[in-house]
Amino acid sequence: TKQTITVIPGDGIGPSIIDATIKILDKAGCGFDYEFADAGLTALEKHGELVPEETINLIEKNKITLKGPLTTPVGEGFTSINVTLRKQFKLYANLRPVLSFKGTKARYENIDILTVRENTQGMYSGAGQVTSEDGTEAQAMSIVTREGAEKILTFAYETAIKEGRKKITAVHKANILKSTSGLFLKVAREVAQRYPQIESTEMIVDNCCMQLVMNPEQFDVIVTTNLFGDILSDLCAGLVGGLGMAPGANIGEDCAIFEAVHGSAPDIAGKNLANPTSVILAAIQMLEYLDMGDKAEKIRAAITDVIASGDRTTGDLGGTHGTTDFTEAVLERL
Ligand code: NAI
Ligand code: MG
Repeated sequence: TKQTITVIPGDGIGPSIIDATIKILDKAGCGFDYEFADAGLTALEKHGELVPEETINLIEKNKITLKGPLTTPVGEGFTSINVTLRKQFKLYANLRPVLSFKGTKARYENIDILTVRENTQGMYSGAGQVTSEDGTEAQAMSIVTREGAEKILTFAYETAIKEGRKKITAVHKANILKSTSGLFLKVAREVAQRYPQIESTEMIVDNCCMQLVMNPEQFDVIVTTNLFGDILSDLCAGLVGGLGMAPGANIGEDCAIFEAVHGSAPDIAGKNLANPTSVILAAIQMLEYLDMGDKAEKIRAAITDVIASGDRTTGDLGGTHGTTDFTEAVLERL
């Protein structure tokens, strides 16, 4: 039977890079059916809510979702849609790989780092968010549970083994955040004991930022809590040529949502300037998740060649072309 994918084109540059990705999946012969759903600002304008129930139902029904970036309106009363979806579907693991491609403007050549970010707890738990009535004091709660930490750490080690990776760095701030980061680090040390075949190291997050910039080749897998993972993965994207090159998979027991790391890029939306590679790489993660590794490799080879040869690449890659030309160059190679 045909796999049906729920597709959320999203806001800003979302529809154009999702459209490019679907053309590429089809041309590669993936044979998916698609069901489209709205979320974000687009959904608010059309249906009066950021995440309509119909969208939730489709995500649940098809289990696999390919999603464009969503704009969360700033201000009171709007919780981040991404945080909502991750919590609703218990998407506890966020896998954000970055890989060097020849032909980008990146400063490094041999980067292959997978950030495994805890996706539902930590500073993004959403708990205890209060601002005092006079607006002079604000609070939010960071939550780390042993169960949550153990789950993400085990997931990181199992993924490392599956992908033939050798080393895991647990990133924390246990010296200051004694309770939350302290518990995460304690569990990290315990889980590391169970995987003697993997080299386990640990690093404090601020040092990790410096090390990533100075000597990024030392990293293989980074596993960390929600907020640190969010920030470090953007840093990692910068090592390989920017946000246009960084995909992410949100994985739960039952459902998975594949997306770019970046947002809706309002500054370039509607101008045919966006690099669709991030979402194409997210689709490659989706193919690997679905055990369609041959299709994944075929598409990866095509974008690798387009970027290396500089054939119709986008501005962020040093080229002068737009989303549609870049996509055409990839399609020709399939
Ligand atoms: P952003 O990631 O949208 O943009 C940051 C910078 O990177 C901009 O200069 C943008 O032009 C550039 N950029 C991003 N993607 C690109 C691509 N594919 N090709 C070329 N250049 C690209 O971050 P920003 O501006 O902070 O956020 C904009 C909106 O996106 C906000 O409403 C935010 O809430 C939302 N957002 C949504 C996410 C999601 O749905 N997963 C993730 C991050 C932000
Ligand atoms: Mg982010």
